[in-house]
Amino acid sequence: MRLGQLLHGQPDAQAPGAIQHALAYEVLSVAVFAGRRKRTFGRLVAMAGVAPGDRVLDVGSGPGYLTALAAEAVSPGGRAVGIDPSEPMVGQARRLRGTENCSFEVGRAEALAAADGSFDVVVSSLAVHHIPDAVRGKAFREMFRVLRPGGRILLADFRPPRGRLGRVLVGATAGPGMRDNPVDRISPMLAEAGFRVESESRVGGFLHCVRARKP
Ligand SMILES: C[S@@+](CC[C@H](N)C(=O)[O-])C[C@H]1O[C@@H](n2cnc3c(N)ncnc32)[C@H](O)[C@@H]1O
Repeated sequence: MRLGQLLHGQPDAQAPGAIQHALAYEVLSVAVFAGRRKRTFGRLVAMAGVAPGDRVLDVGSGPGYLTALAAEAVSPGGRAVGIDPSEPMVGQARRLRGTENCSFEVGRAEALAAADGSFDVVVSSLAVHHIPDAVRGKAFREMFRVLRPGGRILLADFRPPRGRLGRVLVGATAGPGMRDNPVDRISPMLAEAGFRVESESRVGGFLHCVRARKP
C-alpha cells in the first residue's frame, strides 16, 4: 500500500481526496519541509499580499499551518478561516492552531458555505490536486464567488517531478495524483472561472504558485 493511501484512510464518498490521518500528515509535513516549512508558507502569505484587517479563507487547510500564519499576518482586525472536508484534520487544526481570529470548519472547495464576496483573500496550499478533477472547475468558481471584487487568490501545489527516478519514487509513494499533477492547468482554469491571472512562479523548489485577482 502507498503512503498516500495510508494517509487518506477510510474513503469519504463526498470527498475522495480527504486525508483522515491528521497526525501522520502533520509529521510528514514537518519531514518534507525539513526545517523550511515556516519560510516556505510565510512566502505564500507574503505573495498573497495578506495584510492587517484582511479576511482570509484557506481552502483545504489540513492541520492549519498556513491558516495560522495568515491569521498572524491579518492581526489586528482580520481573521483567517480554514476549511477541509476531513473532520480529523479540522479537529487537529482547532486543537493545534485555533485562536480567536483563526478558526476551522468542515467543508469542501467545490461547495463553500461562505457568503458571496465575504473574503479579501483566498489561499490554498498543496490541496488543489486533492479536489476531484470533475469538480475542480466548480471549486475555482466557488473561490471566485466568495471573494470580494478586487480580492486576491494564491494557489500553491506540488510540481510533478520531471526526471524518471523522481516520477517512479513519487508515483510509488504518493501516487499518480502527485506524480502527474497538472499544475499548468491551474492558470487557464482560474481564468475560465473569471480571475485575472497576475503571476506564476516556483517556490521552495517544488511548489507551483499562481496568483490571481477577481476583477
Ligand atoms: C496535502 S493536504 C494540504 C494541507 C495543508 N493545506 C498544507 O499545506 O499542509 C491536502 C488537504 O486537502 C484536503 N481536501 C481533500 N479534498 C478536498 C476538497 N474537495 N476540498 C477541500 N479540501 C480538500 C485534504 O483533506 C487535505 O487536508
